[in-house]
Amino acid sequence: MVLSNTESHYGSVTKIFHWLTALLILSLIPLGWYANQLPYETDAELARKAWFFSVHKTLGVATFFVALTRIIWSISQPKPGLLNADKPTESFAAETVHWLLYAALVIVPLSGWISHAAAAGFAPIWWPFGQSLPLVSKSVAVEHLFADIHWVATKVLVLSLLLHIAGAMKHHLIDRDSTLRRMLPGQPSLAALPAQPDSNLPVLAAVALWLAAVAGGGVMATGAEKEVIAATALEEVTSDWTVQEGQIAITVTQLGSEVTGSFADWTSSITFDESSAEQKVGTVTTTIAVQSLTLGSVTQPALGADFFDANTFATATFEADLLRAVDGYEALGTLTIKGRSVPLTMPFSLSIAENTAKMSAKLTLDRRDFGIGDNMKDESSLKFDVQVDIDLTATRAAVD
Ligand code: HEM
Ligand code: HEM
Repeated sequence: MVLSNTESHYGSVTKIFHWLTALLILSLIPLGWYANQLPYETDAELARKAWFFSVHKTLGVATFFVALTRIIWSISQPKPGLLNADKPTESFAAETVHWLLYAALVIVPLSGWISHAAAAGFAPIWWPFGQSLPLVSKSVAVEHLFADIHWVATKVLVLSLLLHIAGAMKHHLIDRDSTLRRMLPGQPSLAALPAQPDSNLPVLAAVALWLAAVAGGGVMATGAEKEVIAATALEEVTSDWTVQEGQIAITVTQLGSEVTGSFADWTSSITFDESSAEQKVGTVTTTIAVQSLTLGSVTQPALGADFFDANTFATATFEADLLRAVDGYEALGTLTIKGRSVPLTMPFSLSIAENTAKMSAKLTLDRRDFGIGDNMKDESSLKFDVQVDIDLTATRAAVD
């Protein structure tokens, strides 16, 4: 068995790498597509989708390492000349597609892995690979950008592969040359190869095509973010106190992993007089644009009909009286999410310096009180408890 390549033939190591990669890629493409379009409205459906995604991701990462080893091996080897090097257009196309495929072997799995590493929760990559990557921190923007790049890159891969397979079939069935046989077991005897083109044009063409595709993915991601923001702007409110900055964050536990996210768009109308002798020292009305939620990799499902149903219930509200409590304050009122109103007592801490107040509160809600995820009856898919963390800084309106 000849292990190494020669100027005219592929050795068995290259052939094994080629067909192993082909097997992996041709399994991963339908697997990714299938996992992506599976529904996830019930416990069983979610568990099934997560399982298929875990298989996809784990095999995908394994493919990345196989591809890296293959690339290192190719660099160490002579490159067998093309059998049709005397046909410049065909050999240019064949070489460009080879470079597109080589780049796909890195860009496709790496973009998937970076997107996964930047996301919180959902289907894990299984042992022996890790969930995180050095230099990639948790960020919804990074997650979306690389998910879009992954999507575009899989399209480049599929197109290149179709051309590649069509080329191999043309050689075999129409030209009846040894191009395909040369990649199969055995060492077919070949006539002397034509003179090989000595040009970097195929590499440059492949780089240009990849840059165009990846930039397209980036533009798609930015456009989508802008659309979300534009769709959800609430009107500003004026009140005795004006919120300058703050966050309303929620943490859910899905398939055992915590996923934290927050609402980008909300308003609070606050009256508050700390010098009042009454137990009631103020009122608050907070309105949240539900569509402005980002919740790691599960943002889209969270906004869907089974969960927040943001299309039907655009806002959530909390209306409460602010009362003095034994140690600090509490807001006693009603929280309305998805059209369901639930009485709520929310203790909070407050510090006031001059005309600036900082408040923070932590509370735990039960998602079932609001009809969120009613199909997920089992806590192993989605825990009933949802943690809410609120922090805000408000300034007192000037008194004339
Ligand atoms: C059914 C699927 C496939 C068929 C029939 C096929 C066929 C071939 C043939 C016949 C060659 C030799 C070309 C020549 O010597 O001029 C080749 C080379 C090559 N193939 Fe494929 N291939 C397939 C899948 C793939 C996949 C999935 C990839 C990678 C994503 C890939 C990447 C390459 C590359 C980079 C080369 C250049 C030789 C090398 O450096 O290894 N092929 N393929
Ligand atoms: C060579 C390896 C890989 C191939 C060929 C591949 C291919 C695909 C394909 C074809 C899709 C479906 C796109 C669509 O619906 O049109 C997909 C989706 C997806 N893949 Fe991969 N994939 C690979 C590696 C990975 C890796 C390593 C990860 C993560 C660790 C990953 C994560 C995902 C995710 C999360 C999706 C869902 C859709 C999205 O958010 O864009 N993939 N992949």
